[in-house]
Amino acid sequence: MRVLIVGPLGGHSTTATKIAMDRGAKVAQVDTLDQATAYLRAGRGADLLLVDLSLDIGALLAANAAEHITVPVVACGVNPRPSAAADAIRAGAKEFIPLPADPELIAAVLAAVSDDDRPMIARDPSMLSVIEFAERVAPSEASVLITGESGVGKEVMARHLHRKSKRAAKAFVSVNCAAIPENLLESELFGHEKGAFTGAVARRVGKFEEAHGGTLLLDEITEMDARLQAKLLRALQEREIDRVGGTAPVKVDIRVIATSNRDLQKAVREGVFREDLLFRLNVVNLALPPLRERPKDALALAEHFLKKYAKANGIEHRPLSEPAKAQIASRQWPGNVRELENAMHRAVLMADGPEIGPDAIRMPDGSSLSASSGGVARQAAEAAEAATQTMVGRTVAEVEQDLILDTLDHCLGNRTHAANILGISIRTLRNKLKLYNDQGITIPAPGETRAGAA
Ligand SMILES: Nc1ncnc2c1ncn2[C@@H]1O[C@H](COP(=O)(O)OP(=O)(O)OP(=O)(O)O)[C@@H](O)[C@H]1O
Ligand SMILES: [Mg+2]
Repeated sequence: MRVLIVGPLGGHSTTATKIAMDRGAKVAQVDTLDQATAYLRAGRGADLLLVDLSLDIGALLAANAAEHITVPVVACGVNPRPSAAADAIRAGAKEFIPLPADPELIAAVLAAVSDDDRPMIARDPSMLSVIEFAERVAPSEASVLITGESGVGKEVMARHLHRKSKRAAKAFVSVNCAAIPENLLESELFGHEKGAFTGAVARRVGKFEEAHGGTLLLDEITEMDARLQAKLLRALQEREIDRVGGTAPVKVDIRVIATSNRDLQKAVREGVFREDLLFRLNVVNLALPPLRERPKDALALAEHFLKKYAKANGIEHRPLSEPAKAQIASRQWPGNVRELENAMHRAVLMADGPEIGPDAIRMPDGSSLSASSGGVARQAAEAAEAATQTMVGRTVAEVEQDLILDTLDHCLGNRTHAANILGISIRTLRNKLKLYNDQGITIPAPGETRAGAA
């Protein structure tokens, strides 16, 4: 995790730096907004900006946006005017931290934007053998493709590979190809030269160059359009890239890890993904099994998350009761580790008594694990029947809207997971949601259902 402090932070920047460094972050500091933008442009890299509230945060975000630079901003200030923190958030800051900073608060903010320090938990033989294989190939320079359903831990695995590689001391840079709008992705990956487009007031170094010497994670690689796939292929073959609007190629030394939750062979057959690119990326394939095929992991992970969230919420740790354990091990977990993690988080907050029983483990729809166990197939059949009965007389668009929003509720607002279940691309899903939103229809926010926070 790389943090860039912008401004004097009311004299508290030394303390803030120390707190962040104690949590394993690399910290740099600049004084002005212009210096911050120049720092990012140069590809020196930051995962988070801590910006002094007295600076014009809106202007900084606008300057970054004009140059296609996306980095989360957290505002910090001493005794701010009551409206100043709200203004910063309105201008686009993700959080506000009052100074002098509470170390726990800084740590929580760092943890929220970065996955760096999440350990890989594994106990099931199927997962242990994937990890063993991963550790054997980690020191090589081979490209690795990590596949598996949404929420199985592909990103956790990518970070693990980097930690076990010869590049561990160098940068780990990750780009989520699905989350960045198509027209900005090229610049994000390859950078651009001054004048490449309106707003390109100076050279900007992209993620390929930022990752020089280290590892570049291309998350959700299948979401890249055909032209970018061609450009990526060239980058991997030649080990050099062309900045947008650039005239001379730039050499890069990187190890590429890509992830996808789609069936890539199928994507190739359908003509949406280049076969030659798949061959390039798929030198080593790590296929992560879904959680339902790793019953021993389910329990180990459940216990890990219960401890983690009890600690984070300052609640005493409660062990799982025997019936709860049995149900966790036998459940299907369609949302994999992410769903289990959310369920355990809720259980920590809901449980009372000495143990966590099945009642505390809620499904996203609010029913408890105990009420739904054993009846998944029956419930699905009933739901399907109810759905067909209410479909007649409605337009396809209406039914589609219900299906999309219900699925999103089921996935607790997780776009990637919902798109996966629906069999559409995350971009298509986002476009539809935007449409609904424009029509004034309530959309579940990430981590929530339409009924509210989960
Ligand atoms: N083996 C593991 N040990 C500890 N935590 C895990 C493990 N696997 C997954 N997690 C946690 O589960 C969540 C989902 O994991 P991750 O983001 O790596 O999944 P993913 O496969 O990349 O999902 P997606 O396809 O949606 O991007 C994260 O919060 C992660 O920390
Ligand atoms: Mg992921």
